Amino acid sequence: MIFDQSFLDSLIQAVKSSRKYRDLHIPHATLKDILAYESQHSSSRKEFEANFRKSLHNVIAPYLEEINYPAQTAALQELRGQNQSPELLKSWCLDTMRLHASSRERLPYLEAFYQKIFATIGTPDSILDLACALDPLGLPWMNLPPSTNFVAYDIHQPRLDFLQIFFQYFYPQARAIQQDILTTIPDQEADCAFFFKEAHRLEKRRPCSNRELFMGLNVKWLVVSLPSRDLKGHHSLENYHLALIHKAIEGQPWQLTTDIVDDELLFFIRKHD
Ligand SMILES: C[S@@+](CC[C@H](N)C(=O)[O-])C[C@H]1O[C@@H](n2cnc3c(N)ncnc32)[C@H](O)[C@@H]1O
Repeated sequence: MIFDQSFLDSLIQAVKSSRKYRDLHIPHATLKDILAYESQHSSSRKEFEANFRKSLHNVIAPYLEEINYPAQTAALQELRGQNQSPELLKSWCLDTMRLHASSRERLPYLEAFYQKIFATIGTPDSILDLACALDPLGLPWMNLPPSTNFVAYDIHQPRLDFLQIFFQYFYPQARAIQQDILTTIPDQEADCAFFFKEAHRLEKRRPCSNRELFMGLNVKWLVVSLPSRDLKGHHSLENYHLALIHKAIEGQPWQLTTDIVDDELLFFIRKHD
């Protein structure tokens, strides 16, 4: 259905001023993109509004965890003032990663996770961490040379502000960028892109979006991870997620290898040499 611009603007405005979302400063492009997709898949205003809210909630809200980013940033400043031992930094990163579901689940096998990745793709000079959440706090376990160019993308501005301070203090070569990786696919050349635990949600936001993203990325390696089980741990998702990746790379001359670390599936997509 086609809706008038003033109605679309009022929906965007309502999100930007809502208590749930206003502090996140969600990119305008994200809201416009979800509206555009949902307008084509709704047959009434009421249905459109409901679909828009549901889609936005699925993109953002499962991760509206109770992290106080200004307080975390203050803690970071304190940490920097202390004796900067690698052990202290690691222990602080572990405590912070525990606050976000995706990184918390990975903690029991964090070291093995990055070891497996770099044993497969080698040591990259440049990494794009797409839809990163708190994954960059895993940098102390990645054991990368200080010269590694690391760019982290997310749409959650307070999280990115916090990550940027973390980078400034401990990984000056890294940067945090607010960018919707679907509406503005990062086109900078890099050795690899990480895309952890988000491909299944991106596909729900808009079918075939992973294919679009994978094609647009200018990287040698794309490393995608997805959970091997459902949230309750009752059902295997291996075949379902393998099918999602096959659909995204179908017909492309890329090589796919798969692996698993604990209950996180890994898909290594070699786009070019
Ligand atoms: C499941 S978490 C990702 C977890 C992280 N990659 C990890 O494995 O630790 C989802 C994150 O993706 C971000 N996100 C969702 N859609 C995005 C998009 N289109 N562009 C950039 N970031 C996005 C959310 O803000 C949230 O921080």
